[in-house]
Amino acid sequence: MIMSQTDNSSNKDLVILQVELGLRGYPITIGRGLLSQADKLTDHVVGRQVLIVTNETVAPLYLGRVKQSLSGFNVDEVILPDGEAHKNLATLTRLFDTLLEKKHNRTTTLVALGGGVVGDITGFAAAAYQRGVAFIQLPTTLLAQVDSSVGGKTGVNHPLGKNMIGAFYQPRAVIIDTESLLTLPDRELSAGIAEVIKYGLIADSELFNWLEKNIDSLLARDLDALRYVIHRSCRIKADVVAQDEKESGLRAILNLGHTFGHAIETGLGYGQWLHGEAVGAGMVMACDLSVRQGWLDSADAARAKHLIARAKLPVLSPESMTCADYLAHMSLDKKVVDGQIRLVLLERLGKAVITGDVPHEQIKATLIDCGASVD
Ligand code: NAD
Ligand code: GLY
Repeated sequence: MIMSQTDNSSNKDLVILQVELGLRGYPITIGRGLLSQADKLTDHVVGRQVLIVTNETVAPLYLGRVKQSLSGFNVDEVILPDGEAHKNLATLTRLFDTLLEKKHNRTTTLVALGGGVVGDITGFAAAAYQRGVAFIQLPTTLLAQVDSSVGGKTGVNHPLGKNMIGAFYQPRAVIIDTESLLTLPDRELSAGIAEVIKYGLIADSELFNWLEKNIDSLLARDLDALRYVIHRSCRIKADVVAQDEKESGLRAILNLGHTFGHAIETGLGYGQWLHGEAVGAGMVMACDLSVRQGWLDSADAARAKHLIARAKLPVLSPESMTCADYLAHMSLDKKVVDGQIRLVLLERLGKAVITGDVPHEQIKATLIDCGASVD
Protein backbone atom coordinates (compact mmCIF):
# COMPACT_ATOMS: atom_id res chain seq x y z
CA MET A 1 0.00 0.00 0.00
CA ILE A 2 1.55 3.29 -1.07
CA MET A 3 0.63 6.44 0.78
CA SER A 4 0.62 9.70 -1.03
CA GLN A 5 -0.01 13.10 0.45
CA THR A 6 0.15 16.69 -0.58
CA ASP A 7 1.93 18.94 1.88
CA ASN A 8 -0.22 21.57 3.57
CA SER A 9 2.68 23.94 4.10
CA SER A 10 3.51 26.93 1.93
CA ASN A 11 4.97 24.72 -0.81
CA LYS A 12 1.73 23.79 -2.53
CA ASP A 13 3.28 21.59 -5.14
CA LEU A 14 5.05 19.32 -2.67
CA VAL A 15 4.15 15.62 -2.88
CA ILE A 16 5.33 12.89 -0.52
CA LEU A 17 5.03 9.18 -1.30
CA GLN A 18 6.06 6.39 1.04
CA VAL A 19 7.80 3.25 -0.21
CA GLU A 20 6.26 0.64 2.05
CA LEU A 21 9.08 -1.72 2.94
CA GLY A 22 8.66 -2.02 6.69
CA LEU A 23 11.81 -0.96 8.52
CA ARG A 24 13.49 -0.28 5.18
CA GLY A 25 10.63 1.94 3.99
CA TYR A 26 11.31 5.56 3.08
CA PRO A 27 9.71 8.71 1.72
CA ILE A 28 10.01 10.10 -1.79
CA THR A 29 9.55 13.87 -1.65
CA ILE A 30 8.82 15.69 -4.91
CA GLY A 31 8.73 19.47 -5.27
CA ARG A 32 10.39 22.64 -6.51
CA GLY A 33 13.59 23.99 -5.00
CA LEU A 34 14.03 21.14 -2.50
CA LEU A 35 17.83 21.04 -2.76
CA SER A 36 17.92 24.45 -1.07
CA GLN A 37 15.47 23.50 1.70
CA ALA A 38 17.78 22.36 4.49
CA ASP A 39 15.21 20.50 6.59
CA LYS A 40 14.18 18.33 3.63
CA LEU A 41 17.72 16.92 3.64
CA THR A 42 18.83 17.13 7.25
CA ASP A 43 15.80 15.20 8.53
CA HIS A 44 17.32 12.09 6.94
CA VAL A 45 20.99 12.42 7.86
CA VAL A 46 22.01 9.86 10.46
CA GLY A 47 25.19 11.02 12.27
CA ARG A 48 27.44 14.07 11.94
CA GLN A 49 29.47 12.89 8.94
CA VAL A 50 28.27 13.24 5.37
CA LEU A 51 29.95 12.32 2.09
CA ILE A 52 28.36 13.97 -0.94
CA VAL A 53 29.08 12.13 -4.18
CA THR A 54 28.47 13.99 -7.41
CA ASN A 55 30.16 14.53 -10.75
CA GLU A 56 31.99 17.28 -12.59
CA THR A 57 28.85 18.37 -14.51
CA VAL A 58 26.41 18.46 -11.60
CA ALA A 59 28.82 19.89 -9.01
CA PRO A 60 29.00 23.43 -10.46
CA LEU A 61 25.20 23.50 -10.76
CA TYR A 62 23.98 22.08 -7.46
CA LEU A 63 26.76 21.10 -5.04
CA GLY A 64 26.93 24.58 -3.48
CA ARG A 65 23.28 24.65 -2.47
CA VAL A 66 23.37 21.09 -1.11
CA LYS A 67 26.47 21.90 0.96
CA GLN A 68 24.71 25.01 2.22
CA SER A 69 21.69 22.90 3.23
CA LEU A 70 24.01 20.52 5.09
CA SER A 71 26.16 23.24 6.64
CA GLY A 72 25.65 21.96 10.18
CA PHE A 73 27.40 18.65 9.37
CA ASN A 74 30.98 17.54 8.70
CA VAL A 75 30.75 17.34 4.95
CA ASP A 76 33.25 15.75 2.57
CA GLU A 77 32.76 15.45 -1.16
CA VAL A 78 33.87 13.36 -4.11
CA ILE A 79 33.48 14.79 -7.59
CA LEU A 80 33.59 12.00 -10.14
CA PRO A 81 34.28 12.26 -13.85
CA ASP A 82 31.01 12.28 -15.79
CA GLY A 83 29.63 9.31 -17.66
CA GLU A 84 28.53 5.71 -17.76
CA ALA A 85 32.07 4.69 -18.69
CA HIS A 86 33.08 5.55 -15.09
CA LYS A 87 30.42 3.38 -13.48
CA ASN A 88 32.93 0.70 -12.55
CA LEU A 89 34.89 -0.88 -9.73
CA ALA A 90 37.76 1.62 -10.05
CA THR A 91 35.38 4.50 -9.28
CA LEU A 92 33.88 2.57 -6.39
CA THR A 93 37.35 2.10 -4.94
CA ARG A 94 37.82 5.86 -5.11
CA LEU A 95 34.79 6.33 -2.87
CA PHE A 96 36.09 3.79 -0.35
CA ASP A 97 39.50 5.50 -0.41
CA THR A 98 37.92 8.85 0.47
CA LEU A 99 35.66 7.38 3.16
CA LEU A 100 38.67 5.75 4.83
CA GLU A 101 41.07 8.67 4.37
CA LYS A 102 38.49 11.04 5.89
CA LYS A 103 37.76 8.53 8.66
CA HIS A 104 34.07 8.10 8.06
CA ASN A 105 32.54 5.73 10.57
CA ARG A 106 29.44 3.57 10.55
CA THR A 107 27.11 6.48 11.28
CA THR A 108 28.13 8.38 8.17
CA THR A 109 25.54 9.27 5.52
CA LEU A 110 26.33 9.13 1.81
CA VAL A 111 24.44 11.60 -0.37
CA ALA A 112 24.14 10.86 -4.10
CA LEU A 113 23.71 14.11 -6.03
CA GLY A 114 23.29 13.47 -9.74
CA GLY A 115 21.85 11.07 -12.27
CA GLY A 116 21.54 7.32 -12.22
CA VAL A 117 25.27 6.74 -12.61
CA VAL A 118 26.12 8.66 -9.44
CA GLY A 119 23.10 7.17 -7.62
CA ASP A 120 23.92 3.55 -8.52
CA ILE A 121 27.61 3.85 -7.57
CA THR A 122 26.94 5.75 -4.34
CA GLY A 123 24.23 3.32 -3.28
CA PHE A 124 26.56 0.38 -3.81
CA ALA A 125 29.33 2.11 -1.85
CA ALA A 126 26.83 2.71 0.99
CA ALA A 127 25.76 -0.96 0.87
CA ALA A 128 29.35 -2.19 1.18
CA TYR A 129 31.14 0.40 3.33
CA GLN A 130 31.51 -1.07 6.80
CA ARG A 131 28.79 -3.54 5.74
CA GLY A 132 26.22 -0.82 5.21
CA VAL A 133 25.77 2.87 6.01
CA ALA A 134 22.92 5.30 5.37
CA PHE A 135 22.42 6.98 2.02
CA ILE A 136 20.13 9.59 0.51
CA GLN A 137 19.27 9.97 -3.15
CA LEU A 138 19.11 13.49 -4.63
CA PRO A 139 18.38 12.59 -8.27
CA THR A 140 18.89 15.37 -10.81
CA THR A 141 17.99 13.68 -14.11
CA LEU A 142 14.45 12.75 -15.09
CA LEU A 143 15.55 9.14 -15.49
CA ALA A 144 16.91 9.05 -11.96
CA GLN A 145 13.84 10.83 -10.59
CA VAL A 146 11.35 8.39 -12.09
CA ASP A 147 13.37 5.22 -11.87
CA SER A 148 16.90 4.67 -10.65
CA SER A 149 16.74 6.55 -7.33
CA VAL A 150 13.77 4.49 -6.15
CA GLY A 151 13.86 0.81 -5.28
CA GLY A 152 17.37 0.13 -4.05
CA LYS A 153 19.08 -1.37 -7.08
CA THR A 154 22.69 -0.27 -6.77
CA GLY A 155 25.82 -1.34 -8.57
CA VAL A 156 28.45 -0.89 -11.23
CA ASN A 157 29.15 -2.26 -14.70
CA HIS A 158 31.65 -4.93 -15.71
CA PRO A 159 33.21 -4.84 -19.19
CA LEU A 160 31.28 -8.04 -19.94
CA GLY A 161 27.89 -6.88 -18.71
CA LYS A 162 25.93 -3.91 -17.46
CA ASN A 163 25.08 -3.60 -13.75
CA MET A 164 26.52 -7.05 -13.15
CA ILE A 165 28.05 -6.24 -9.77
CA GLY A 166 25.80 -4.71 -7.14
CA ALA A 167 23.37 -5.07 -4.27
CA PHE A 168 19.79 -4.35 -3.34
CA TYR A 169 20.15 -1.56 -0.79
CA GLN A 170 17.44 0.98 -0.05
CA PRO A 171 18.11 4.69 0.53
CA ARG A 172 16.76 6.43 3.63
CA ALA A 173 15.06 9.05 1.49
CA VAL A 174 14.66 10.19 -2.11
CA ILE A 175 14.37 13.95 -2.53
CA ILE A 176 13.38 15.12 -6.00
CA ASP A 177 13.85 18.76 -6.89
CA THR A 178 11.94 19.18 -10.16
CA GLU A 179 13.70 22.49 -10.86
CA SER A 180 16.95 20.59 -11.39
CA LEU A 181 15.45 19.39 -14.68
CA LEU A 182 15.68 22.91 -16.07
CA THR A 183 19.42 22.48 -16.66
CA LEU A 184 19.24 18.97 -18.09
CA PRO A 185 20.34 18.58 -21.74
CA ASP A 186 17.46 17.81 -24.14
CA ARG A 187 18.84 14.39 -24.99
CA GLU A 188 18.89 13.42 -21.28
CA LEU A 189 15.33 14.69 -20.83
CA SER A 190 14.18 12.41 -23.64
CA ALA A 191 16.07 9.50 -22.10
CA GLY A 192 14.07 10.02 -18.91
CA ILE A 193 10.81 10.23 -20.82
CA ALA A 194 11.59 6.73 -22.14
CA GLU A 195 11.19 5.36 -18.61
CA VAL A 196 7.95 7.32 -18.13
CA ILE A 197 6.56 5.80 -21.34
CA LYS A 198 7.64 2.42 -19.94
CA TYR A 199 5.37 2.87 -16.91
CA GLY A 200 2.46 3.70 -19.18
CA LEU A 201 3.09 0.60 -21.28
CA ILE A 202 3.54 -1.87 -18.42
CA ALA A 203 1.01 -0.65 -15.87
CA ASP A 204 -0.90 2.51 -16.62
CA SER A 205 -2.74 2.95 -19.91
CA GLU A 206 -4.21 6.20 -18.56
CA LEU A 207 -0.68 7.59 -18.19
CA PHE A 208 0.08 6.41 -21.72
CA ASN A 209 -2.98 8.28 -23.05
CA TRP A 210 -1.96 11.36 -21.06
CA LEU A 211 1.52 11.20 -22.58
CA GLU A 212 0.09 11.06 -26.09
CA LYS A 213 -1.73 14.32 -25.37
CA ASN A 214 0.97 16.08 -23.32
CA ILE A 215 4.37 14.91 -24.53
CA ASP A 216 5.12 18.39 -25.87
CA SER A 217 4.61 19.93 -22.40
CA LEU A 218 7.18 17.50 -21.02
CA LEU A 219 9.64 18.31 -23.78
CA ALA A 220 9.05 22.02 -23.05
CA ARG A 221 9.83 21.30 -19.34
CA ASP A 222 6.52 22.45 -17.94
CA LEU A 223 7.24 21.81 -14.25
CA ASP A 224 3.65 20.86 -13.42
CA ALA A 225 3.61 18.30 -16.22
CA LEU A 226 6.97 16.97 -15.05
CA ARG A 227 5.81 16.74 -11.43
CA TYR A 228 2.71 14.86 -12.59
CA VAL A 229 4.69 12.18 -14.46
CA ILE A 230 7.35 11.91 -11.75
CA HIS A 231 4.66 11.38 -9.11
CA ARG A 232 2.76 8.86 -11.20
CA SER A 233 5.91 6.97 -12.20
CA CYS A 234 7.29 6.86 -8.65
CA ARG A 235 3.93 5.59 -7.40
CA ILE A 236 4.03 2.67 -9.84
CA LYS A 237 7.66 1.91 -9.07
CA ALA A 238 7.16 2.13 -5.31
CA ASP A 239 4.14 -0.15 -5.54
CA VAL A 240 6.01 -2.79 -7.55
CA VAL A 241 9.08 -2.60 -5.28
CA ALA A 242 6.92 -2.92 -2.16
CA GLN A 243 5.52 -6.17 -3.56
CA ASP A 244 8.77 -7.63 -4.87
CA GLU A 245 11.82 -5.82 -3.54
CA LYS A 246 14.45 -8.29 -4.79
CA GLU A 247 12.93 -9.14 -8.16
CA SER A 248 11.82 -12.67 -7.53
CA GLY A 249 8.98 -12.10 -9.99
CA LEU A 250 6.82 -9.03 -10.54
CA ARG A 251 9.63 -6.44 -10.39
CA ALA A 252 11.04 -7.73 -13.66
CA ILE A 253 8.19 -5.93 -15.48
CA LEU A 254 10.12 -2.71 -14.82
CA ASN A 255 12.61 -4.01 -17.36
CA LEU A 256 10.40 -3.67 -20.44
CA GLY A 257 12.74 -3.03 -23.35
CA HIS A 258 15.79 -3.33 -21.10
CA THR A 259 16.99 -6.76 -22.26
CA PHE A 260 17.29 -5.42 -25.81
CA GLY A 261 18.46 -2.05 -24.48
CA HIS A 262 21.24 -3.46 -22.31
CA ALA A 263 22.44 -5.45 -25.35
CA ILE A 264 22.66 -2.17 -27.29
CA GLU A 265 24.49 -0.39 -24.45
CA THR A 266 26.99 -3.21 -23.96
CA GLY A 267 27.33 -3.95 -27.68
CA LEU A 268 28.06 -0.34 -28.66
CA GLY A 269 30.22 0.34 -25.59
CA TYR A 270 28.94 2.13 -22.50
CA GLY A 271 28.07 5.76 -23.07
CA GLN A 272 27.51 5.60 -26.86
CA TRP A 273 23.74 5.48 -26.59
CA LEU A 274 22.15 6.77 -23.40
CA HIS A 275 20.42 4.16 -21.25
CA GLY A 276 17.02 5.72 -21.95
CA GLU A 277 17.71 5.82 -25.69
CA ALA A 278 18.57 2.13 -25.70
CA VAL A 279 15.40 1.46 -23.68
CA GLY A 280 13.39 3.48 -26.22
CA ALA A 281 14.51 1.28 -29.13
CA GLY A 282 14.27 -1.78 -26.85
CA MET A 283 10.62 -1.03 -26.06
CA VAL A 284 9.82 -0.82 -29.78
CA MET A 285 11.40 -4.28 -30.13
CA ALA A 286 9.46 -5.62 -27.13
CA CYS A 287 6.20 -4.28 -28.61
CA ASP A 288 6.98 -5.85 -32.01
CA LEU A 289 7.66 -9.19 -30.34
CA SER A 290 4.49 -8.89 -28.27
CA VAL A 291 2.49 -8.50 -31.49
CA ARG A 292 4.24 -11.59 -32.91
CA GLN A 293 3.07 -13.53 -29.85
CA GLY A 294 -0.51 -12.62 -30.70
CA TRP A 295 -0.81 -10.49 -27.58
CA LEU A 296 -0.44 -6.76 -28.16
CA ASP A 297 -2.64 -5.20 -30.81
CA SER A 298 -0.54 -4.02 -33.78
CA ALA A 299 -2.29 -0.63 -33.67
CA ASP A 300 -1.18 -0.18 -30.04
CA ALA A 301 2.38 -1.20 -30.95
CA ALA A 302 2.28 1.50 -33.63
CA ARG A 303 1.00 4.04 -31.06
CA ALA A 304 3.88 3.12 -28.74
CA LYS A 305 6.45 3.50 -31.52
CA HIS A 306 4.98 6.85 -32.54
CA LEU A 307 5.06 8.16 -28.95
CA ILE A 308 8.66 7.00 -28.50
CA ALA A 309 9.63 8.79 -31.72
CA ARG A 310 7.77 11.96 -30.62
CA ALA A 311 9.82 11.85 -27.41
CA LYS A 312 12.87 12.16 -29.70
CA LEU A 313 14.10 8.66 -28.92
CA PRO A 314 15.49 6.08 -31.37
CA VAL A 315 13.00 3.51 -32.61
CA LEU A 316 15.46 1.41 -34.61
CA SER A 317 18.50 -0.68 -33.70
CA PRO A 318 21.97 0.75 -34.35
CA GLU A 319 22.89 -0.65 -37.76
CA SER A 320 26.25 -1.89 -36.54
CA MET A 321 24.61 -4.47 -34.29
CA THR A 322 23.84 -7.91 -35.68
CA CYS A 323 21.27 -10.40 -34.42
CA ALA A 324 24.15 -12.52 -33.13
CA ASP A 325 25.46 -9.54 -31.14
CA TYR A 326 22.06 -9.10 -29.53
CA LEU A 327 21.59 -12.77 -28.68
CA ALA A 328 25.10 -13.01 -27.22
CA HIS A 329 24.51 -10.04 -24.93
CA MET A 330 20.94 -11.04 -24.11
CA SER A 331 22.12 -14.47 -22.95
CA LEU A 332 24.06 -12.66 -20.18
CA ASP A 333 20.98 -10.80 -18.95
CA LYS A 334 20.22 -11.16 -15.24
CA LYS A 335 16.77 -12.54 -16.06
CA VAL A 336 18.24 -15.58 -17.90
CA VAL A 337 17.32 -18.81 -16.12
CA ASP A 338 18.96 -22.11 -17.14
CA GLY A 339 20.14 -20.60 -20.42
CA GLN A 340 16.64 -19.41 -21.37
CA ILE A 341 16.24 -15.71 -22.24
CA ARG A 342 13.28 -14.29 -20.28
CA LEU A 343 11.63 -11.22 -21.70
CA VAL A 344 9.14 -8.66 -20.54
CA LEU A 345 6.46 -8.29 -23.18
CA LEU A 346 3.02 -6.72 -23.32
CA GLU A 347 -0.22 -8.65 -23.14
CA ARG A 348 -1.92 -5.39 -23.98
CA LEU A 349 -1.25 -1.70 -23.50
CA GLY A 350 -0.91 -1.20 -19.72
CA LYS A 351 -0.33 -4.89 -18.90
CA ALA A 352 3.10 -6.56 -18.95
CA VAL A 353 3.92 -10.27 -18.95
CA ILE A 354 7.19 -12.06 -18.29
CA THR A 355 7.89 -14.96 -20.60
CA GLY A 356 10.67 -17.43 -21.30
CA ASP A 357 8.84 -19.06 -24.18
CA VAL A 358 9.87 -16.95 -27.14
CA PRO A 359 11.74 -18.90 -29.86
CA HIS A 360 15.05 -17.35 -30.98
CA GLU A 361 13.72 -17.26 -34.56
CA GLN A 362 10.98 -14.84 -33.49
CA ILE A 363 13.43 -12.69 -31.56
CA LYS A 364 15.61 -12.57 -34.69
CA ALA A 365 12.63 -11.62 -36.87
CA THR A 366 11.88 -8.72 -34.52
CA LEU A 367 15.52 -7.64 -34.47
CA ILE A 368 15.74 -7.61 -38.25
CA ASP A 369 12.46 -5.72 -38.63
CA CYS A 370 13.77 -3.19 -36.11
CA GLY A 371 16.95 -2.56 -38.07
CA ALA A 372 19.54 -5.01 -36.72
CA SER A 373 21.89 -6.48 -39.33
CA VAL A 374 21.58 -10.10 -40.35
CA ASP A 375 24.61 -12.09 -39.04
P1 NAD B 1 23.69 9.94 -15.89
O1 NAD B 1 23.78 9.70 -14.45
O2 NAD B 1 24.87 9.63 -16.73
O3 NAD B 1 23.24 11.45 -16.11
C1 NAD B 1 23.06 11.90 -17.43
C2 NAD B 1 23.87 13.15 -17.73
O4 NAD B 1 23.19 14.28 -17.18
C3 NAD B 1 25.25 13.18 -17.15
O5 NAD B 1 26.11 13.82 -18.05
C4 NAD B 1 25.08 14.02 -15.90
O6 NAD B 1 26.28 14.62 -15.49
C5 NAD B 1 24.09 15.03 -16.38
N1 NAD B 1 23.26 15.67 -15.39
C6 NAD B 1 22.69 15.11 -14.31
N2 NAD B 1 21.84 15.96 -13.73
C7 NAD B 1 21.90 17.10 -14.44
C8 NAD B 1 21.23 18.35 -14.34
N3 NAD B 1 20.28 18.55 -13.45
N4 NAD B 1 21.56 19.31 -15.23
C9 NAD B 1 22.49 19.09 -16.20
N5 NAD B 1 23.11 17.91 -16.36
C10 NAD B 1 22.82 16.93 -15.49
O7 NAD B 1 22.47 9.10 -16.53
P2 NAD B 1 20.99 8.78 -16.06
O8 NAD B 1 20.21 8.68 -17.29
O9 NAD B 1 20.54 9.65 -14.98
O10 NAD B 1 21.12 7.33 -15.42
C11 NAD B 1 21.53 6.24 -16.19
C12 NAD B 1 22.10 5.19 -15.27
O11 NAD B 1 21.07 4.76 -14.37
C13 NAD B 1 22.58 3.96 -15.97
O12 NAD B 1 23.82 3.58 -15.43
C14 NAD B 1 21.53 2.91 -15.66
O13 NAD B 1 22.03 1.62 -15.63
C15 NAD B 1 21.08 3.36 -14.31
N6 NAD B 1 19.74 2.93 -13.93
C16 NAD B 1 19.58 2.37 -12.72
C17 NAD B 1 18.33 1.97 -12.32
C18 NAD B 1 18.14 1.44 -10.93
O14 NAD B 1 17.04 0.95 -10.62
N7 NAD B 1 19.12 1.54 -10.07
C19 NAD B 1 17.23 2.15 -13.15
C20 NAD B 1 17.43 2.74 -14.40
C21 NAD B 1 18.70 3.13 -14.79
N1 GLY C 1 14.80 -0.20 -13.29
C1 GLY C 1 14.34 -1.49 -12.96
C2 GLY C 1 14.19 -1.75 -11.51
O1 GLY C 1 14.45 -0.92 -10.68
O2 GLY C 1 13.82 -2.83 -11.15
